Amino acid sequence: MKPALFSVLLLHLAEAAFGLPTQETFSVPVQDLHPDPHYRNNGTIASACHRKKPKSDPERGGVYGAPRSDCDSSLALIDHVMNWLEKEWVDEIDFVLWTGDSARHDNDRIVPRTPSEIYELNRLLVSKMEKIFGKRGIPVVPSLGNNDIWRPNAITQEFSSIWRPYIPFPSYQVFARGGYFSKEIIPGRLAAISLNTMYFYDSNKAVGGCEWVNRDQGGNQADPGNLELDWLEVQLDDFRSRGIKVWISGHVPPSPGNYFPECLWRYTAIVLRYQDTVVGQVFGHMNVDFFFYLDAHDLRAPVTEGESTVGMLKKDKDKKLHRDLVSDFAELPKLRKLDMDDFSIVNVAPAIVPNPYMPGIRVWGYNVTGWENQTAVTLKNPDREHRHRHPDKERCKRAEDKKKWWCKMPKREWYSDADAPSRKNGLWSPLGYAQFWLPDLRVDGTGPPEWELEYATYQNVHDPRAQDGWRPIPARMVSELKNKDMNKVLPYGMEDGTIGSWMKLARRIGQKKRTLREDFRRLMYME
Ligand SMILES: *[C@@H]1O[C@H](CO)[C@@H](O)[C@H](O)[C@H]1NC(C)=O
Ligand SMILES: *[C@@H]1O[C@H](CO)[C@@H](O)[C@H](O)[C@H]1NC(C)=O
Ligand SMILES: *[C@@H]1O[C@H](CO)[C@@H](O)[C@H](O)[C@H]1NC(C)=O
Repeated sequence: MKPALFSVLLLHLAEAAFGLPTQETFSVPVQDLHPDPHYRNNGTIASACHRKKPKSDPERGGVYGAPRSDCDSSLALIDHVMNWLEKEWVDEIDFVLWTGDSARHDNDRIVPRTPSEIYELNRLLVSKMEKIFGKRGIPVVPSLGNNDIWRPNAITQEFSSIWRPYIPFPSYQVFARGGYFSKEIIPGRLAAISLNTMYFYDSNKAVGGCEWVNRDQGGNQADPGNLELDWLEVQLDDFRSRGIKVWISGHVPPSPGNYFPECLWRYTAIVLRYQDTVVGQVFGHMNVDFFFYLDAHDLRAPVTEGESTVGMLKKDKDKKLHRDLVSDFAELPKLRKLDMDDFSIVNVAPAIVPNPYMPGIRVWGYNVTGWENQTAVTLKNPDREHRHRHPDKERCKRAEDKKKWWCKMPKREWYSDADAPSRKNGLWSPLGYAQFWLPDLRVDGTGPPEWELEYATYQNVHDPRAQDGWRPIPARMVSELKNKDMNKVLPYGMEDGTIGSWMKLARRIGQKKRTLREDFRRLMYME
């Protein structure tokens, strides 16, 4: 990192610590923007909002986009988002996690998307982000999305030039080769790891799916997904040894329908093993709002390909996703029967692009109490014994399993700690998030759409526990909420964003709490 940037960053932190809010800080993940330079106001949905013909077609988008359609974001919408972030958030936030897909979809045969257009759109967004965040020293951590890059390896070189402001110097060579990097967003204390999920994504036929290979014989045929996971392990180990906590961010979330089975197995094993270091995992891609858990028991269960949803309509896929999540949650036993060492939480945020739902932005709060005085962190090193981690001996006798990660993974330490910030609310713990949206895009041209608080995970939008009564939403919105049904705005009432709190919510949704289940569905699809 360049010294100049370093000092600006500290200056910003110093302001946050001595100036205004002291109890909380925010980070904003910006998801799936999908700007579209071909977007035309009053264009037909059938043409992806690119053309006005035929005249008789009544289905059209407005200046700010076409809600719940296949059209991408108009540049007016992108500017509207950026202006809001600048107006409401730049003084409050510490860093921005930008989870990818910064190009439009390739959904119009008349104007096919070219690589140079993808680069152009990324350059455009970088310049907008720089104007708002970069010049104020707020770190931005982008990740590659599937619409940014379709041929991994060939394109990362170009991105290392486009994203030059964001990639720290020591990460530069790794990024140019692999498209992933890490960055200390609060130097010496908090880091973000940006994954290139394209190497794990099972729609990417250009990679090997993390197949196990014996490195001693044929070492250089390693799959890019495995190289990335090797790197992730080294990063987490290094941050852990320095007492630095880590947010992981990426585009495609780690779930069975999305990742190759062996990539998912390895990723799950790694984040569970470093549970005392990873404070949160945020992803995009799905354009649906949900969370799920990675479970140590799945490391032992038979590994199956995710159920294929090829050919299913997006809306049907999303309905199935809700059913699958709720039935997973319903199988959870009482919380005291769960060992929280076994779980890791993944949060998936909705997109900016109104396709097929509505534009949203998520603002996380995390605990910074006492950060100024944090000296050398004393890690309690429980280094627990492997309990669930032995591969199933019977399974590994089967020829088809013998050469898979789950049978080859050597014994490794398992770092979990009930006092770690991912487990107990304290310094660096995620506290929760507030989800903002544009419920009405004003297609009728009656003016710019207005941001509203869709919901927050907290118990209150004004937390009386904190001395200065910290707010997870802009002050203006507190009064706007007066006329709202607070049960809808604060459906979850979570104490904090630790693993235990998310597991408790999952269990509550899974039990026959009808209203909560309906809330979960309503928020998933932004109804
Ligand atoms: C949109 O285009 C149609 C067809 O040309 C036209 O009839 C209509 O008035 C236009 N609407 C607006 C708001 O410009
Ligand atoms: C941090 O240290 C400073 C100086 O030693 C002290 O004034 C302050 O109260 C401490 N803050 C906390 C939160 O302990
Ligand atoms: C942050 O953690 C401290 C314990 O270190 C706790 O006392 C405080 O309530 C937490 N802050 C919030 C806003 O939850």
